[in-house]
Amino acid sequence: MLPLFPLLISIMPCPSCIPDSNFGSLWEAIVGYGRPPGGVLPLTGGNFIFLFQGIIYDSGSMPLTHTRELFAKALKGKYALGAFNVNNMELLQAIIEACEEEKAPVMLQISKGARQYANPVYLKKLIEAAVSLSTIPIAVHLDHGDTFDLCKECIDEGFTSVMIDASHEPFEKNVEITKKVVDYAHKHNCVVESELGHLVGAQFDEGEEGGAHSASGHYTMPEEAVKFVQETGCDSLAVAIGNSHGAYKFKGTQHLDLERLKLIKQALMDAGLGDYPLVLHGASSVPKDLADEINKYGGKLGTDTAGVPEADIEIARRTGCTKVNIDTDLRLAMTAAIRKVFSENPKEFDPRKYVGPARAKVKELVRHKIKDVLCCAGHAFD
Ligand code: G3H
Ligand code: 13P
Ligand code: ZN
Repeated sequence: MLPLFPLLISIMPCPSCIPDSNFGSLWEAIVGYGRPPGGVLPLTGGNFIFLFQGIIYDSGSMPLTHTRELFAKALKGKYALGAFNVNNMELLQAIIEACEEEKAPVMLQISKGARQYANPVYLKKLIEAAVSLSTIPIAVHLDHGDTFDLCKECIDEGFTSVMIDASHEPFEKNVEITKKVVDYAHKHNCVVESELGHLVGAQFDEGEEGGAHSASGHYTMPEEAVKFVQETGCDSLAVAIGNSHGAYKFKGTQHLDLERLKLIKQALMDAGLGDYPLVLHGASSVPKDLADEINKYGGKLGTDTAGVPEADIEIARRTGCTKVNIDTDLRLAMTAAIRKVFSENPKEFDPRKYVGPARAKVKELVRHKIKDVLCCAGHAFD
């Protein structure tokens, strides 16, 4: 039997290495809480590895970084965090490799659909692998949690933040549901994003003035945002300023209501809430070349695909959108690459030959976002 006690002592004197988090059991041990569940083996350089159910885990890998810490640094550094959706191994690898090479902190976000598709355990294990193979700060976030129970599940699993999305509910109900999640999350050292307003897309807004220009009351009102944050205690707020999900965001001119964003940010500041972090959902730009490539190789996307101009995202970043959510663009990149392989080589049936190029294309897209749009590249070790 190994002398566990001295070895445990040897890893404990480094509290700064222990993240400010509250992960459960195995996840907790893997991401660095310093409470290994199995035998502990010493390694050089202050690292340790431990054995659990026949598997060796290496604590030398960087633990998850708390969302709170990523937000604080992003606000200070005036850059935006890329929050990229993860559904499978290749997407995760593409995101992590791009961020690792560009030295960018990153938020991996997982939707309810992703959990259903991939199984939460697979996702967790994949992220563990990503954490152990990289050096950048990585936070894990629940995207669009629709119930308290789902949020609780993710909080208990060690997610560093969750989103509760009750934005379809009336204001008071949205407050009530959000507050319940906030109360639980804060007791378990997790932070909460909530949403106020409706992310109306061109489809939803049909018949009205058109997505970004609608005056139909779907957008976030500055004074309501203040009341909402004060009443719920949520840690960040997703705003509706003409943004929407998917590949068909605008009917007419593509632009966000950036003036409204400014007013929301200012209202929160004036109310004493400080440099309060706002979140931009639906931030894919739906690049024309990707849509064209998909269609060139047999796809049938409409001619009316439209995304948020990158120039608007840059202004949103400078105006206070600290977290920027991107999923659709990753899907488009992946689809374009796979279609190209199939079209050029219909005999191909080795998945590595088409999913591999798809991964490479997603990686380049993520690289572009973090370097040229979000400006978080180079900030991993600030
Ligand atoms: O905002 C939604 C994200 O794109 C996730 O989509 O629910 O299909 O996984 P999903
Ligand atoms: P897109 O559909 O624009 O990529 O938005 C993703 C998103 O908001 C995930 O929450
Ligand atoms: Zn979203």
